[in-house]
Amino acid sequence: MNDLKIFAGRANPALSAKICDYIGIPSGKVSLGNFPDGEISCKIDEDIRGRDVFLIQPTCPPVNDNIMELLVMIDSCKRASAERITTVIPYFGYARQDRKDEGRVPITAKLVANIITRAGADRVVTMDLHAAQIQGFFDVPVDHLYAAPVLNDYMAQLGYQRDDYVVVSPDEGSIKRALGHAKRLGGSVAIVDKRRSSAEETHQENIIGGSIDGKVVLMFDDMISTAGSIVGAANLCKTAGAREIYVGVTHPVFAGPAIERLNASPITEMVFTDTIPLANPSLLQQTHPKFTALTVAPLLGEAIKRIHRNESVSFLFK
Ligand code: R5P
Repeated sequence: MNDLKIFAGRANPALSAKICDYIGIPSGKVSLGNFPDGEISCKIDEDIRGRDVFLIQPTCPPVNDNIMELLVMIDSCKRASAERITTVIPYFGYARQDRKDEGRVPITAKLVANIITRAGADRVVTMDLHAAQIQGFFDVPVDHLYAAPVLNDYMAQLGYQRDDYVVVSPDEGSIKRALGHAKRLGGSVAIVDKRRSSAEETHQENIIGGSIDGKVVLMFDDMISTAGSIVGAANLCKTAGAREIYVGVTHPVFAGPAIERLNASPITEMVFTDTIPLANPSLLQQTHPKFTALTVAPLLGEAIKRIHRNESVSFLFK
């Protein structure tokens, strides 16, 4: 592991520290700061010539600052003659604009992928992209990991029988994810008919598929932003007679009214991972005692180890 170097951006230092602990190497020394006008400064404080460098930086809020910091770090490593630069982006922001669904709008997922690649990233490690095909937006190898094993392990120890569950997909885009979880945890699959009216507002009117009455509902999503999608789906499940409602999400963005909405919802327990830091952790604990945070550090750490040793990463999907 001598030539492996891991550097953390400022987006999620706690996750980076856990990844380094898992691998058993110290975090690389880097000085990051801001000039008086807000521009980002970066100095890699150790020799990385010929090293296999991994930069850990989710592009979560403040999204633009975190992307720019990642680019500045890539450029520093490239100019310091790193042998290979892998960007570990546990949460890839701007991913939801992944196609032109009306005229004169950008495809930001492709734009950001282009910028990161052009800056000098040789490969990318990421987790639960909003749409799996975003992998193809990068012209370098992408290892796309899933938090599902971590979320499934947690749900499996709740003490219910496989027949107690119905896995509810909060929208039609998450059907494949719901089927995957149902295969491992049990239960039938139902789908919420979700219509989005704006970035903050969604409307849910029907549940298509299996019966919810008396069941333990499990819902999984890639992210919660304003919580409109998940809370709308949870309300519908409650009305349909759900006994309990458990939610598992990979990226807890919790933007705008999310905390208030989750707090007032019929969700029994909300489970999420540490791909991004919580915007306001103390508020969460005060308002909703049933938030549970799980770590994906071992999963990311194992992927980094395997990439460094040129070993299979798909092993982690099993
Ligand atoms: C939608 O396609 C995504 O998978 C999430 O369900 C959605 O982006 C969450 O957004 P919000 O929490 O604002 O409803």
